[in-house]
Amino acid sequence: MYTVPKLEDFSAAALDKVAGELLAALLTESAAANDAKAAEEFRNRWMARKNGILTQINDLWLKVAPGPAKREVGACVNQLKAKVEEAVEVVENRATQPAASTSATSVAAAVADSVDITLPGTRRALGVKHPVLRVLDEMIAVFVRMGYSIAEGPEVESDYYNFEALNFPPNHPARDTQDTLFVAGQERKPQRDRLLLRTHTSPVQIRSMERMQPPLRVICPGKVHRNDAPDATHSPVFHQIEGLCVDTDITMGDLKGTLDHAMKSLFGPEVKTSFRPSFFPFTEPSVEVSISCPFCGGKGCRPCKQSGWIELLGAGMVDPAVYGFVGYDPAKLSGFAFGMGIERLAMMKYNVDDIQQFYLGDMRFLEQFA
Ligand code: FA5
Repeated sequence: MYTVPKLEDFSAAALDKVAGELLAALLTESAAANDAKAAEEFRNRWMARKNGILTQINDLWLKVAPGPAKREVGACVNQLKAKVEEAVEVVENRATQPAASTSATSVAAAVADSVDITLPGTRRALGVKHPVLRVLDEMIAVFVRMGYSIAEGPEVESDYYNFEALNFPPNHPARDTQDTLFVAGQERKPQRDRLLLRTHTSPVQIRSMERMQPPLRVICPGKVHRNDAPDATHSPVFHQIEGLCVDTDITMGDLKGTLDHAMKSLFGPEVKTSFRPSFFPFTEPSVEVSISCPFCGGKGCRPCKQSGWIELLGAGMVDPAVYGFVGYDPAKLSGFAFGMGIERLAMMKYNVDDIQQFYLGDMRFLEQFA
């Protein structure tokens, strides 16, 4: 007959040993308790307040456990208590409904670690698209509907594709407008072969024209890097979508119509676009494109700095010099290109006043897009 030992060694191994012996006794004794009288005796022996086995392990194990071991002994005693209660319940059920469960294995199942299949499953929250990705995908869909295909290029790019073939001559001041992160230790290489983190998606224009013959309509979504200090509207890593359309009779009117349609698709039909002269080495003429402020409808508010307009992207007619780098005939062809910052579009679309919110991973912010 099982008797509760006095515990002197409170190590995990010693605890395991005494708990195992107790469970073995529980199993044997529960299997033998087969009628109502035996079930009652079984309950008293294990659960009687006065001197039941559970009371004994409380007194002989837990109460005398030294401070540092108390936690572990307490957890062990609690587990044993749950198993004893389960076993008593099984034995009593068996005694009152003999046909329902007569085998000792049901006690064993109760004693062993069991899975309660009636508990609800663990719910895992479904992820949703990040707002930047959402706007990126929306914009891609708009251009795919207009017949554009998608092109991609490397994020570690050569000086040739990022600058030279886009008509930025070596040492031209326009290079300074894109604070570039160069890969270190390449001083010995010719400048055009030096690697850098692409500062815009425009190099994919060159790569696409090298691969394909006109007519050509591509968009190039992707990540770009600049040595820009982070603030409310700047991030050193951000996303752009580049667009390029080259054919025989492409005009500035096509560029305006295309971008107007894209902005209306993203922000709603009431949004207007405005084109202001600008400069990029690879487009001539070049423009900065603004939309009428989606918050105030053009009346003037804080996000649009009271101007009624918000500048969102750069664009222009492809400079004929660029065709020279890819073997296209500038006398026969014309085309337009544009490049938009996706985070800035997402800020406008979702009324986010700090670009850094997109990168913090703060669930309180992200859950708003669920
Ligand atoms: C360019 O990058 C040109 N490649 C765009 C272009 C393409 C012009 C084709 C003509 C033809 P820009 O440096 O202005 O241009 O950047 C384009 C857009 O990227 C900006 O309008 C802005 O929306 C976004 N942007 C620029 N710097 C940052 C930054 N640090 N953080 C977040 N967005 C930025």
